[in-house]
Amino acid sequence: MKPIKVGLLGIGTVGAGTFNVLQRNQEDIRRRAGRGIEITMVAARNLDKARKIVNAGVGAGVEVVSDPFAVVNHPDIDIVVELIGGYELPHELVLRAIANGKHVVTANKALLALHGNEIFAAAQEKGVMVAFEAAVAGGVPIIKALREGLTANRIESVAGIINGTTNFILSEMREKGLDFATVLKQAQELGYAEADPTFDIEGVDAAHKLTIMSAIAFGIPVQFDKAYIEGISQLQAVDIRYAEQLGYRIKLLGITRRTRTEDKEGGEGIELRVHPTLIPASRLIANVEGAMNAVLVQADAVGSSLYYGKGAGAEPTASSVIADLVDVTRLATVDPYCRVPHLAFQPNEMTDVAI
Ligand code: HSE
Repeated sequence: MKPIKVGLLGIGTVGAGTFNVLQRNQEDIRRRAGRGIEITMVAARNLDKARKIVNAGVGAGVEVVSDPFAVVNHPDIDIVVELIGGYELPHELVLRAIANGKHVVTANKALLALHGNEIFAAAQEKGVMVAFEAAVAGGVPIIKALREGLTANRIESVAGIINGTTNFILSEMREKGLDFATVLKQAQELGYAEADPTFDIEGVDAAHKLTIMSAIAFGIPVQFDKAYIEGISQLQAVDIRYAEQLGYRIKLLGITRRTRTEDKEGGEGIELRVHPTLIPASRLIANVEGAMNAVLVQADAVGSSLYYGKGAGAEPTASSVIADLVDVTRLATVDPYCRVPHLAFQPNEMTDVAI
């Protein structure tokens, strides 16, 4: 069977990682997907840099262009991988790709947190898939766990460390006594931080991811505007030291859970919040250090389960991008019309969010 053709939008840290892993593990990936997965087009702002990355990977046969619309409009492209980041341009590109009948894989949590409802509805109408494992917790397959592994359960809560940059900052400040600015710079150099690192340190990135997990876990629309968000920029070294002396660690947690009101009607809502949290040092999650992520899910049948791994960086995130590519390839091959868009969740009725 002919390989499936992929167009890549953006070739920064994650794009380069995707090229490397696809190239390195191509035989296994081809076997698991049932056919080859080939990146045949790349759109990039810096063409020279993009060509260098492409040539170091698969080399010949990859067209490098500056106009991302040339990729989403190209008749030969089956799957568009959106790794540009930001909101506006990706929003337009993803909707155009869907309208053109292409499946989409994206790592863009900001895009989905803000425009997910519109994008999923468009995908459903067109019968294409939108997959986004890489948008939440980097290489930790938490979307698949929530949507597939735990599908028998009524989920009560999802809580965790879902921003690698802030966890790295808090860990380095505590362990090495380094100051905030120095560690943030290191996180940027290591490719963990967002293009605008205020999204990391002010909790916005974690809230984007939490919003997406909440939608999957509870079957509600994406409701980023309802989230309470507080980052770590007001924390000082002394807070971390005092917490330590009292037997606690400070972690930036994202928490989403069902809430019930005490009134006769017993109304139910969903809580969404991101803020620094004091956690007893003996707890597993308090010992998640560096850019690692950990997500704790409470559900009725399985009880508690914890998902842990690298939450940021080139190859961990590429691992999730490629997992989605394999999923989409399998499904698109089994049912070329993808009448059931398995990877785009179907939002239920709007549920109120209580903070
Ligand atoms: N800036 C993000 C983080 C990258 O630090 O977690 C991965 O989404």
